Amino acid sequence: MELSAAMQDAMNQQIQTELESAYLYLSMATFFSPKNLGGSAHWMRVQAQEEVTHAMKFIDHVEDRGARVVLGPLAQPKLEFASALEAFEYAAAHEREVSTKIQSLYDLAAKERDYASQGLLQWFITEQVEEERSASQIVETLRMVGDSAPGLFMVDKELAKRGTEGA
Ligand code: FEO
Repeated sequence: MELSAAMQDAMNQQIQTELESAYLYLSMATFFSPKNLGGSAHWMRVQAQEEVTHAMKFIDHVEDRGARVVLGPLAQPKLEFASALEAFEYAAAHEREVSTKIQSLYDLAAKERDYASQGLLQWFITEQVEEERSASQIVETLRMVGDSAPGLFMVDKELAKRGTEGA
């Protein structure tokens, strides 16, 4: 079954959202690097790669369904943050927004009885639980140990350990 025009537009929009997410996390990585917060920068780079993988999943799906991927312009990401805590709070809020978008896409797929898209989106719904949780956990930890030395450096060391599995 070919993708409907509405699904095609919505998925193209989501490809853009995922790539803008990658762009945002790269921006955060370059915010952290010069502050000697290499662990946080690493975490953000891995996250950016994961977002590109998300975009690819949508691209594959659109193409597998015989539709055309149309890449739009990426919005300028936020460049500066008041603190590491603010950056991770921003990331957590961003993921909550992405979850809402995924849910809207799922609603559309359900309305259209597009079962294949529902299958893909179900994967993303589960993934978003993880995405929200990992950003929120870092926010909670920073609130607990403090957003400056020595707590911040301790958290930064932990973030350096993030692997690329599942990205
Ligand atoms: Fe692709 Fe962070 O959601």
